[in-house]
Amino acid sequence: MPTAKDNKGVSRRKLLRVAGTASVVSGLASFRRFGGVAWAAQTPKTYKRWVVSTPVVDRKISEANFKLTEPPIPQIKNGECLIENILFNIHSATRERMSPGGITKPGETDNTNYTLGRVLQSKDRTFKEGDVIACLAGWQDHQIISAEYGPQPGYVLPNEMVKQLNGTNNPWGFVWRPVMLKMHAADVLMDIFHSSGTTAYFGLRECGPMRPGDRCAVAATTGSVGAMVAQLLLAKGCHVVGFGGGPERTQWVKDQFGIEALDYRAKDLDDQLRKTFPKGVDFFSDGVAGDLSLSVAKVMNEDSRFFNYGTSAALYAPTNGERPSGTPAAAGQRPGSRRNMFGMSEDVAKICDAKHIHVESWQVNELYQDRIEAENYLSRLVIEKRLRPINTVVDGVENIPKAVVMQYTDNPYGKLQVRMSQKPLI
Ligand SMILES: NC(=O)c1ccc[n+]([C@@H]2O[C@H](COP(=O)([O-])OP(=O)(O)OC[C@H]3O[C@@H](n4cnc5c(N)ncnc54)[C@H](OP(=O)(O)O)[C@@H]3O)[C@@H](O)[C@H]2O)c1
Repeated sequence: MPTAKDNKGVSRRKLLRVAGTASVVSGLASFRRFGGVAWAAQTPKTYKRWVVSTPVVDRKISEANFKLTEPPIPQIKNGECLIENILFNIHSATRERMSPGGITKPGETDNTNYTLGRVLQSKDRTFKEGDVIACLAGWQDHQIISAEYGPQPGYVLPNEMVKQLNGTNNPWGFVWRPVMLKMHAADVLMDIFHSSGTTAYFGLRECGPMRPGDRCAVAATTGSVGAMVAQLLLAKGCHVVGFGGGPERTQWVKDQFGIEALDYRAKDLDDQLRKTFPKGVDFFSDGVAGDLSLSVAKVMNEDSRFFNYGTSAALYAPTNGERPSGTPAAAGQRPGSRRNMFGMSEDVAKICDAKHIHVESWQVNELYQDRIEAENYLSRLVIEKRLRPINTVVDGVENIPKAVVMQYTDNPYGKLQVRMSQKPLI
């Protein structure tokens, strides 16, 4: 697994001399340190941190799986900074990580949450006092981090361009441009720009160009990435069909986006797909890798495009420990294949090969050298009201366990987030 030691440090000053995108960061530097706020003075003596008390067995997650601790705020060392965690996204893989064999062990916090925070004290080369940053953080309201740290286990190392742009060794760690803080609230930044919207943006770009009238099937439309993909395709004039789990969620897709939607649990789904796509599917956005993926693959056109980015069918499988048929575990994997990264089954892969379907599959951070391009495009759509966040915010560090459990019981639409501070970002 990659560690901080595997990465060579990059200096922020050096990065300002390179790529064109980096100069945007440089040009806005004078906006930083606004208002003369003494952020260091806002440091409390202790912080709240949730850890796993007992592992999640058979996917039955409850608040009893968590324990609250209140350690003293540690002293920062050279190369480190102390941040206040303002808001983080709950990841659909959290329950998996807390299960036996998962990366979050009893007594530990989950350090892989995409988080927006503010730097309170700094001896770090990139993160300065007062900066509002993106980082990976735990279930806690304060955190020591460093630009030197590499990404957590399971996350790919940043390529050289991403390192230079971020000035960190972590694709998920960077300073937000002040213009982004002026345009968007914390929950919008973390929903659209880190990373549901950016995943959707790069998915369409890499599978593109998307043409008006292209017939598109968007799995997981009630989820965070799918809700963004559907909106971006609509903005390009495509014909979009979404999916929901059950009649109520299917109706929600129709009402929210004004598109056709099918219940992926329907017994006659294959028939419905043939009727809905008489001329076949030109583009399929698949964050599911389950039975639905095979059903859609069957109606995809020759030379069409397949965005294979996620495995929600496995992540949301029933709590009895079984996985629905057709998910990667049941359908067989393709060791060594790039497509295997997101659980494409053998059957779907065969269809893709036979129909010469172009498949894209990557972690979005692998494309983050173009993050500013995505931020600019998506911001424009937000300002023009052609793209909106789909998210639910739970307030309070004390409610972190409740929110994580909610992810699997209430299944809120779009992205679920926990907010720990409502102070203005800028
Ligand atoms: N490649 C990348 O860089 C990248 C970036 C972001 C996310 N991801 C991955 O993408 C996946 C989805 O993430 P997300 O955050 O968008 O998910 P999410 O917000 O948790 O939503 C999950 C979605 O999956 C649907 N779903 C669940 N089980 C299903 C099944 N058996 N068949 C069809 N649909 C099913 C749900 O529909 P209902 O609730 O209506 O049933 C819901 O729309 C995850 O595996 C995540 O790790 C990858």
